[in-house]
Amino acid sequence: MRRPWIVGVSGASGTPYAAAVLRALSAAEVPVDLVVSRAARLTLLDETAISFRDAHWQHDLQTWLGAEVKDVRYWPAGDLAAGPSSGSYPASGMIVVPASTAACAGIALGLSKDLLQRAAEVNLKERRPVIVVPRETPVTRSHLLHLVELIDAGATVLPASPGFYGIGAAATAQQLIDFVAGKVLDCAGVEHDLLTRWTGTING
Ligand SMILES: Cc1cc2nc3c(=O)[nH]c(=O)nc-3n(C[C@H](O)[C@H](O)[C@H](O)COP(=O)(O)O)c2cc1C
Repeated sequence: MRRPWIVGVSGASGTPYAAAVLRALSAAEVPVDLVVSRAARLTLLDETAISFRDAHWQHDLQTWLGAEVKDVRYWPAGDLAAGPSSGSYPASGMIVVPASTAACAGIALGLSKDLLQRAAEVNLKERRPVIVVPRETPVTRSHLLHLVELIDAGATVLPASPGFYGIGAAATAQQLIDFVAGKVLDCAGVEHDLLTRWTGTING
């Protein structure tokens, strides 16, 4: 059985990045353990008009992603006794997408204020891959120092910073979203066709 990737959605703007990652993991038949922070419900509401509810997560997730996703296990963010809160829980690693500055700080400092932060810390201590996708601009020195702490602890920091190469100036929002999601899946070692790869030829 394939080990799941834990996907943590925190309260930074950028829920479309999370949706693209979740859809691509599902397409690759990778099992997912999903945690949605309390603050992420506000960004989801703002960006998708969906009120995400623990009790109705399957319905709300399907509405959000526009498709049924197979093999997702959902854990309420307040459930600190959930499986992913322990290092003995079998996981491939964790993706925090999008990652708020608060989540980055909490994980870097080991605050474990909710299941998302605890699961990320656990995966770092178990030396499993942790991919963090921060979304904030501009940033303070302390934001950057927390990211350095995460890198020192073994995380991959993958800013939500899409490239335009291979797409061009007429890029659609979805292409830019998919670029970031594709980089996340590359880091997770999961096959996908979300982005146009550089071939060594300048378009012109
Ligand atoms: C609509 C909205 C957009 C936000 N966008 C961001 C953002 O882009 N980056 C960020 O770091 N925080 C953002 N925040 C603030 C976070 O939600 C806040 O720091 C929260 O405490 C994060 O909690 P969490 O890490 O537990 O999800 C936003 C909040 C709201 C309501």
